[in-house]
Amino acid sequence: MSGEDRPLDLVSDFPAIPAGWAYLDTAATAQKPRAVIEAIERGYARDYATVHRGVYQRSADMTLAYEAARRRVASFIGGAPEECVFVRGATEAINLVATCWAATQLRPGDRILLSMLEHHSNIVPWQMAAERVGAAIDVLPLTGDHRIDLQAMADTIRPDHKLVALAHVSNVLGSVLDVRRAVEIAHSVGAKILIDGCQAVARLPVDVAALGCDFYVFSGHKLYGPTGIGVLWGRAELLEAMPPFQGGGSMIDRVSFERTTYAPAPTRFEAGTPHIVGALGLAAAVDYVEGIGLAAIHAHETALVREARAALSRLNSVRLFGPEESAGIVSFAVEGVHPHDIGTILDEAMVAIRAGHHCAQPLMAALGVEATARASFGVYNGPADVAALADGIERVVRIFG
Ligand SMILES: Cc1ncc(COP(=O)(O)O)c(C=O)c1O
Repeated sequence: MSGEDRPLDLVSDFPAIPAGWAYLDTAATAQKPRAVIEAIERGYARDYATVHRGVYQRSADMTLAYEAARRRVASFIGGAPEECVFVRGATEAINLVATCWAATQLRPGDRILLSMLEHHSNIVPWQMAAERVGAAIDVLPLTGDHRIDLQAMADTIRPDHKLVALAHVSNVLGSVLDVRRAVEIAHSVGAKILIDGCQAVARLPVDVAALGCDFYVFSGHKLYGPTGIGVLWGRAELLEAMPPFQGGGSMIDRVSFERTTYAPAPTRFEAGTPHIVGALGLAAAVDYVEGIGLAAIHAHETALVREARAALSRLNSVRLFGPEESAGIVSFAVEGVHPHDIGTILDEAMVAIRAGHHCAQPLMAALGVEATARASFGVYNGPADVAALADGIERVVRIFG
């Protein structure tokens, strides 16, 4: 790493990371900075009340704070507040679009285009919607260096493809999608395109207006925010035309037993009491990462991955997956060693990685493995964590001969 892009040194912002622990599982969930923990504490211990209902001052203030959080999150991704729906996470966001857009807009014979590297959250909801309407699913292959093959996309796509759903950054490989190009190809046949930004928002600057996509989804907990809160961003005209997801309080305009009318988006999609403090925590997480700068985070994490790949590739029995240039995530295998054994041995050395199929079983099949070991980096990691990983893998290789 050059002096110019000196590694970030932020681990002291994270009270749950003890000295000497290399936490390399940020792609599963990010640790929380004190600023986020304090925002959550203030939300419950000082400012707590419901939103959108109370006539008393505390509730009015909380409503303002909740809607300010929506504006904060919207500006973070370059969208308008009324286009940002608070959901439980990316999984719920994709299910919402599958239920309210795909299952109502698609007709028998229509097709949905996914890729081989998608997370199960960006596969199963589409299968469920496709089954309901009689649509079919096509799957894009990967390039030799494990990126979504956009040439294959351009060659495959046709007017019966009404929806494309692709990951911005692969949770297994760290490969980064050229979203603008994917959008251009999808729109060339009139298809809508949803981008799963779960692994991207914490690693790259994202501007939905510049990307030109139709839906963008992410989870708060991978962005250093709380669990149980996430965002569906959708183009205003698409959200406006979609029926509600769930029925209940808040999402209505008027209710009678004869007829119920619904609130406009985004409220129409937020039935019930929302995760109020979760939204405040998410806004604090956005402030935190923007304070560091997404470009700086991206440079920091790609440099760490580069170092990790270089260190691991020096070991003969290690096989690396994914492209050389990947965003903060590297998957690998050690010949003859199950990834769970790698994970256990590394844990003894205070290195936390993920081992398994990473909710991407079709990708595992395409890679010809049952599982991989995965190291994923965050703003709190540094070269010492890469060294601990490399030492741990050397130990794995020694133990298993
Ligand atoms: C690329 C990707 N998409 C979707 C998800 C689902 O996110 P959540 O479980 O927070 O809903 C994940 C989580 O691992 C992911 O990495």
